[in-house]
Amino acid sequence: MLRDLPEHQNTERPPHGAAPSLHVQLNDIHKQFGRFTALAGIHLDIRQGEFVSLLGPSGCGKTTLLRILAGLEHADRGQIMLHQRDITRLPPAERDYGIVFQSYALFPNLTVAANIAYGLKGRREDRQRRVDELLDLIGLAGIASKYPAQLSGGQQQRVALARALATSPSLLLLDEPLSALDAQVREHLRHEIKQLQRKLGVTTIMVTHDQEEALTMADRVVVMNHGVIEQIGSPETIYRKPATRFVADFVGQCNWLSGTVLSPGYFRLGNAAIAAHSLAHHPTGRQVEVFLRPEDVILHPRWEAGPNMALGELKQLELLGSQYRMTLQVADWGGITLQADLNHHQLASLNFRDGQRIPVQLPANCLQCFSTEHSE
Ligand SMILES: Nc1ncnc2c1ncn2[C@@H]1O[C@H](COP(=O)(O)OP(=O)(O)OP(=O)(O)O)[C@@H](O)[C@H]1O
Ligand SMILES: [Mg+2]
Repeated sequence: MLRDLPEHQNTERPPHGAAPSLHVQLNDIHKQFGRFTALAGIHLDIRQGEFVSLLGPSGCGKTTLLRILAGLEHADRGQIMLHQRDITRLPPAERDYGIVFQSYALFPNLTVAANIAYGLKGRREDRQRRVDELLDLIGLAGIASKYPAQLSGGQQQRVALARALATSPSLLLLDEPLSALDAQVREHLRHEIKQLQRKLGVTTIMVTHDQEEALTMADRVVVMNHGVIEQIGSPETIYRKPATRFVADFVGQCNWLSGTVLSPGYFRLGNAAIAAHSLAHHPTGRQVEVFLRPEDVILHPRWEAGPNMALGELKQLELLGSQYRMTLQVADWGGITLQADLNHHQLASLNFRDGQRIPVQLPANCLQCFSTEHSE
């Protein structure tokens, strides 16, 4: 199990000096549903004001973990600390959080104002003022008297967010808050939620199975699989330096190259010796799986001798929107199929003709390795 990776200590500090204090600590959380293990020893520390995303495939235990934190589900083992206080056995109402679920969980028979004010106590005028403040905050002043059915999905989720924030909780829990929305609204709300979170400084834990959402919104991403944490790190670390094959595959596209270590820093791929810096300390003869992101493959307009170069035969060219994805087959590298991403300008500068083979290069510093044998 990976606890905090060293680089997370470098994430931003508040402008006025002191390091943020620990807010949430999950220690060794286990959960069984009958004979099924949903969570198998989760350790996670979250700092005050941090935005953490729990990312993983369906069924990996994200919602279960969030529900345990919220007190809506009980862990079989483990401890939950909030500001160094043990809250493992506290009921939900005493845990000081706001929560937003995937489906709009607004009360259909209450107006927007009544929905937002639901958890508020105190004098009528104070509640009214707070509702106005929150409507302003989410950019929906003027809809106070509408009913949920009269709102779009995006507006309903904003209201749900306002309701979750109404009591100024110190912790905001979001379970796939954007997944029921269409792509454009989703992207827009991503920015809004992130901005709001920054402005309020509220510690936020968001569950998602959408890697783009996690990478764009979170300060730190927690990648989960089968009830365990595979990696915790900044979005950049998760994407550029995945700790396991699962993380590499789940977060982004990969080219996988299977080969044998020839000498420190080199592996055999087909007939070629390929240099890879990550293999500097691997013993000769070791079977390795090396990976490379499609955007790291270099394509040259003309052949020139160089390290890790070969000619690739173009098999397919797809437009992905802002970029193209090329599929190339490389005979000299044992006939492997490589995917290379490039933008419109790069494609134009290649100036290739149908049937022409394209010079391909693998940058030695971008080839990363996971050993397929456990002898280290
Ligand atoms: N109350 C329950 N009873 C039995 N099994 C459950 C219960 N709640 C969850 N599970 C199982 O535990 C596993 C984890 O569920 P969980 O809802 O935490 O997954 P998730 O990561 O949130 O997935 P998704 O992305 O689909 O929402 C699943 O296999 C699920 O079927
Ligand atoms: Mg879920």
